[in-house]
Amino acid sequence: MSCRIAVLVSGRGSNLGALLAAQAQNALGGGRIVRVISNRPGAGGLAIAAGHGVATSVVDHKAFASREAFDAALAAALDEAAPDLVVLAGFMRVLGAAFIARYEGRMINIHPSLLPAYPGLHTHRRALEDGVRLHGCTVHFVTPDVDVGPIVAQAAIAVRHDDDEDSLAARVLVAEHALLPRVVGWYCSGRLAVTGNRVQVTTDRAPRDLTLIAPDA
Ligand code: GRF
Repeated sequence: MSCRIAVLVSGRGSNLGALLAAQAQNALGGGRIVRVISNRPGAGGLAIAAGHGVATSVVDHKAFASREAFDAALAAALDEAAPDLVVLAGFMRVLGAAFIARYEGRMINIHPSLLPAYPGLHTHRRALEDGVRLHGCTVHFVTPDVDVGPIVAQAAIAVRHDDDEDSLAARVLVAEHALLPRVVGWYCSGRLAVTGNRVQVTTDRAPRDLTLIAPDA
């Protein structure tokens, strides 16, 4: 049985592009992206989806008077796609607790920092201000507190002495594109197990290493 994946995006959609590329190579553990939903009508991710023949929906947050009303419309659009897995790939709206509870254990997010460092926005700028030497990205299960759910996997990159926000963001993005499809593949092939805040990935052989040290591209 194939694993139905819904992807939520707000912007350019490069992580969605990486997922679609992995799917084309049968590298999503049997997973198939069946719907892309955006809260922004002009999101680049919608065009990427359409270009791959994936059904899209827009649930424009500006059209709703409250977060609850937006969440309910989003849940309705999602449920129509009957997803086994919901992937937040650059989805920039905070979701309410009831929405998250509905998809708990089957919703993951990609965040551009090595959590628990730098939850929230402007992660690259803050990492540079602090002078950290290692930075990266994290895929985690979504729980009601923002950027706090069980960590599945991380990819680390070295911060260079001459990095600025843009150069750092660009290298983290390369790491994101490697990490997210891998995690989706694990989920779809039934290899992810969550116990409390701990996540394990199992293969036929042994538990798998959850840290990807990205090549210093
Ligand atoms: C990524 O850096 C993601 O980690 C963050 O927003 C960005 C989205 O990029 N949450 P894209 O839309 O996938 O290109």
